[in-house]
Amino acid sequence: MDAKGKVALVTGASAGIGKASALALLREGYRVVLTARRRELLDQAISESGVGADRALAVTSDVGDPKSVAALFAAVKEKFGRLDVLFNNAGMGAPAVPMEDLPFEKWQAVVSANLTGTFLCCQEAVRIMKAQDPKGGRIINNGSISAHAPRPMSIAYTATKHAVTGITKTLSLDGRKHDIACCQIDIGNAATEMTERMAKGVMQADGEMAIEPRMDVKHVASAVVYMASLPLDANVQFMTIMATKMPFVGRG
Ligand SMILES: NC(=O)c1ccc[n+]([C@@H]2O[C@H](COP(=O)([O-])OP(=O)(O)OC[C@H]3O[C@@H](n4cnc5c(N)ncnc54)[C@H](OP(=O)(O)O)[C@@H]3O)[C@@H](O)[C@H]2O)c1
Repeated sequence: MDAKGKVALVTGASAGIGKASALALLREGYRVVLTARRRELLDQAISESGVGADRALAVTSDVGDPKSVAALFAAVKEKFGRLDVLFNNAGMGAPAVPMEDLPFEKWQAVVSANLTGTFLCCQEAVRIMKAQDPKGGRIINNGSISAHAPRPMSIAYTATKHAVTGITKTLSLDGRKHDIACCQIDIGNAATEMTERMAKGVMQADGEMAIEPRMDVKHVASAVVYMASLPLDANVQFMTIMATKMPFVGRG
């Protein structure tokens, strides 16, 4: 697929994986809409990319809010007229506390960003992708190693990331008739703000604290660009990309 002229939307593009992926897609020639809640960081990312307003657009949104998401996709359509790739990346964790002590508001905030946000953005993207000409597109969901195995005291994050896998599988099936390919990237320990605690020492399954290796976020961005680059009749259904020596395989 020739990236030139294709339109991509990256959620959570103000920092970390989303920002790195948006910048990588811009370097490949995509036209990119960057969204998150912090406007100044979106503007900063676009200015770092060096591209003009004809190729990049910043739109603030809260992905857990249906009205905000509807306005976001309306802005994408108004600016670029279509959507070829959606990277559902926005997400957050909750403090590591015993599940019986997790405040309801924290649970709800994680469900809202990670699960409801992914659902709402998929819904809006499907509406655009099935109606556009040429029709179809690709949706890349950001899962996690936590879509496979929990960390201690991570019920909200783990539950929502397992649920993202359910969205990916359902949309992979339901998307077939509209030429919509859906896939998932499961990341482990990319060096972003979210994983800073791994570098300081994080609780292991046996309750011990240990420093965990991390990898450069640029490797995730390259993987996202690859997944996005495939023609719609080919799909990386699931990709796991992780710091090679982090605890996951080998039961630790
Ligand atoms: N880093 C890793 O190793 C790793 C591993 C597995 C999975 N992941 C997943 O990768 C994604 C990005 O993580 P990261 O490490 O890059 O974290 P990060 O640096 O904390 O970035 C999170 C991004 O999500 C945005 N966001 C959060 N809640 C939002 C909401 N309600 N509406 C809109 N945007 C929202 C934030 O922007 P604003 O605050 O400006 O809204 C920010 O741009 C998450 O889904 C995370 O679960 C990361």
